[in-house]
Amino acid sequence: MNNSITIIRPDDWHLHLRDGVMMKAITPESTRHFNRAIIMPNLVPPVVTAADALAYRTRILSACPQDSNFTPLMTLYLTDKTDPDDVAAAFANGIINAVKYYPAGATTNSDSGVTDIKNVMPVLEKMAQIGLPLCIHGEVTDPNIDIFDREAVFIETILDPLRRALPELKTTSEHITTKDGVDYVKSQSKNHCATITTHHLMINRNHLLVGGIKPHYYCLPIAKREEHRLAVRAAATSGDVRFFLGTDSAPHTDPNKETGCGCAGCFTATNTMALLAHVFEEDDALNKLEKFTSINGPKHYGLLPNTETITLKKSSAPFLYPKKIETAEGPVTVFNPGHDIYWQVIE
Ligand code: NCD
Ligand code: ZN
Repeated sequence: MNNSITIIRPDDWHLHLRDGVMMKAITPESTRHFNRAIIMPNLVPPVVTAADALAYRTRILSACPQDSNFTPLMTLYLTDKTDPDDVAAAFANGIINAVKYYPAGATTNSDSGVTDIKNVMPVLEKMAQIGLPLCIHGEVTDPNIDIFDREAVFIETILDPLRRALPELKTTSEHITTKDGVDYVKSQSKNHCATITTHHLMINRNHLLVGGIKPHYYCLPIAKREEHRLAVRAAATSGDVRFFLGTDSAPHTDPNKETGCGCAGCFTATNTMALLAHVFEEDDALNKLEKFTSINGPKHYGLLPNTETITLKKSSAPFLYPKKIETAEGPVTVFNPGHDIYWQVIE
């Protein structure tokens, strides 16, 4: 049996670092193992201009530990008013690597998102021309659509028409949670990819709801039925170049999670690599871990894989990761899959 594995240093293709004291406290949890990350722009107010992205990037770098070489890959938050030429200039100047599309109201801090995809077609056309990738939060927001169906309905009503209109646009369906999401990626050309989170490989909606509600398992898109988790997991562990890691690690303080109306987001930065080693070993796919965390993502973004490596080791004693990360805003609970994990990153 394989008790140790060395892989190219991973990147995180979907990460929330927040800002201010929260960012200061949680950034080292990502920089410890990851070399780069696509940084989500859903601050309040959101990161909408190149100047916003540059300033945010500087703040992130100042929150990184001294000895880290972490590179934040910045995104702009697409709004109904985004100017195609601004976006193109930000890309040409190397300030951004992607643009993020949130349907207005779909998730945490998405109020300034797109109200109708027609409003942003000029930006998307420009992005297709210049090869700038679009990251998509693929859920419809129609209150009549059941929360468990929102991803599948988005594919049918928004994503597929968009892909047909602009097949050359590089798109990523972020944090897919359904068999529909997996099948759609497989039906498309290589310029449509999907990120997959660590927690969606480990929990289904029973974990969230049976035996009492678990607020730390609540994130958007919401965890689905077991058959969907299995489909997403098979995609992640397949090695297929179109699927790669985006943790969607999204810190909220415990008081904001454990309340009458709790925030959506799971915080997995601290133990993601250990959890993934567990998952990939369970599926007899440890040899595909590197593709998922370190090779497929850079390919989609037109970047080279990292040159350093990390080593994970399986011990006989469980890995004791911190249960919470203390921040000046309050504690943030680290995602706990509900069972012991024996893998950990050792170097
Ligand atoms: C994210 C957050 O907290 O910013 N929450 C989540 O449930 N995933 C937003 C997002 O990526 O949808
Ligand atoms: Zn997210």
